[in-house]
Amino acid sequence: MKQPKHITAQEAVRLVKSNDHIVVGMTAAEPQSFMHELHTIANEVENITVSNCLPILEAEFFMNPAYKNTFKLGGWFYTNTLRKVHKNGNISFIPNHLHLAGKKRFDFKKPNILVMSTAMPDKHGYISLSVQNVYEMDAIEKADIVIFEINPNYPRTFGDNQVHISQVDYIIESNYPVPSIPEAEPNEKDEIIGKLIAEHINDGDTIQLGIGGIPNAVARQLMNKKDLGIHTEMFTTGMMHLIKAGVVTGLKKNVNKGKHVTAFAFGTPELYEFLNDNPSVYFMRGREGNDPAIIGLNDNMVSINTTLEIDLTGQCASESIGHVQFSGTGGQSDTAIGAQNSKNGRSFIALYSTAMVKNPETGISEEISKIVTFLKPGAAVSLSRNDVDFVVAEYGCVSLRGTTIDERARLLISIAHPKFRDELTKEAIKYGYIGV
Ligand code: COA
Repeated sequence: MKQPKHITAQEAVRLVKSNDHIVVGMTAAEPQSFMHELHTIANEVENITVSNCLPILEAEFFMNPAYKNTFKLGGWFYTNTLRKVHKNGNISFIPNHLHLAGKKRFDFKKPNILVMSTAMPDKHGYISLSVQNVYEMDAIEKADIVIFEINPNYPRTFGDNQVHISQVDYIIESNYPVPSIPEAEPNEKDEIIGKLIAEHINDGDTIQLGIGGIPNAVARQLMNKKDLGIHTEMFTTGMMHLIKAGVVTGLKKNVNKGKHVTAFAFGTPELYEFLNDNPSVYFMRGREGNDPAIIGLNDNMVSINTTLEIDLTGQCASESIGHVQFSGTGGQSDTAIGAQNSKNGRSFIALYSTAMVKNPETGISEEISKIVTFLKPGAAVSLSRNDVDFVVAEYGCVSLRGTTIDERARLLISIAHPKFRDELTKEAIKYGYIGV
């Protein structure tokens, strides 16, 4: 049986050839040793493409403009890391829905090398992909070379995320801690919004919680519910607390009964400890787990995500501030549509009613409404107005399902900050959204 060769990161980067497409593991599964070494081959190769997603690692090969002519980076989901260096010119966003992110990118550009951090091999020779199963399995199946940075600190998890050692070409032994994020304390607005959403969640519902402060606050408001299920894209520390408290059992789910389904995990060291050797959490590859058709198989599916700006017709700009890429669509649309495919399903988009934004002319921060007549020029629509369902701000929760533009504009204005409501109403009339 084929056995992988153990090599150093210095040797691994020398497997890269000119014109290669390297796919790296996402977020906590970024292969740190490989990525920190990659720039050292800049004079030996040319035209290297790297695809990554929700990165936290700042590696020389893309942060340092000195290497920009050798390495081009495509990002499925921007974070501060990519926002900072986007201006260098060699970083570009890949528009995508999470469940098709890998498939479409790999149809466009075959992955030559997949490299990611994983758990250690088990006694049967299987390696768990640990905290990641978004696009990585798709890349493993298509790549010419598979390199795993095996690491005893990475939890051994279960799901369709087991790779036999014979499918791995090279192993780098590593020992860094799993990257973590602290639990954010919800502020007053988060708590109000969390409570408003929790009122719409019933015992026995299956939930998905998205990225950002508000979904964390929602998790805290669910402690008095019973028999909730989880079918999510990102598994969080808040979800772990709900399971430990016995609030989430998964016993009312139609599919994967009793299992908490996710594509990746990112949270505290306690979360990783909880995931280790825990068969109740099922890492399902993103292409399947985030497919709206599969999400919708569970009855009573509830998705909860956040947006940066919503217009009066219900279009959600959740990933860009005007033309500036901020994050990504991720699974926002997948999960919102999936939840509405479900019998008695509901989808929530939450936002603070206002944001503090620096006026570029005066340099002074001003309060602006996040509920607007028109999205900022260049804004990317992450969730279409055809797919938006409930919208929640600290002034209330409204359902836009089945509404006309007139009805939804009035509903959205009713949850805008009071100081912006008159202006929004005037504009809605002026542009024919509200009839008078
Ligand atoms: N105009 C200008 N700036 C705005 C703004 C607006 N309408 N709305 C927010 N901002 C600013 C905030 O002030 C904040 O600035 P700061 O970092 O200087 O404080 C920044 O944008 C981020 O806003 P915040 O509300 O703190 O974001 P968050 O961390 O809660 O994340 C999203 C919110 C929408 C970016 C995030 O949920 C996301 O990327 N969603 C899309 C993907 C998704 O939903 N996936 C679901 C499955 S995981």
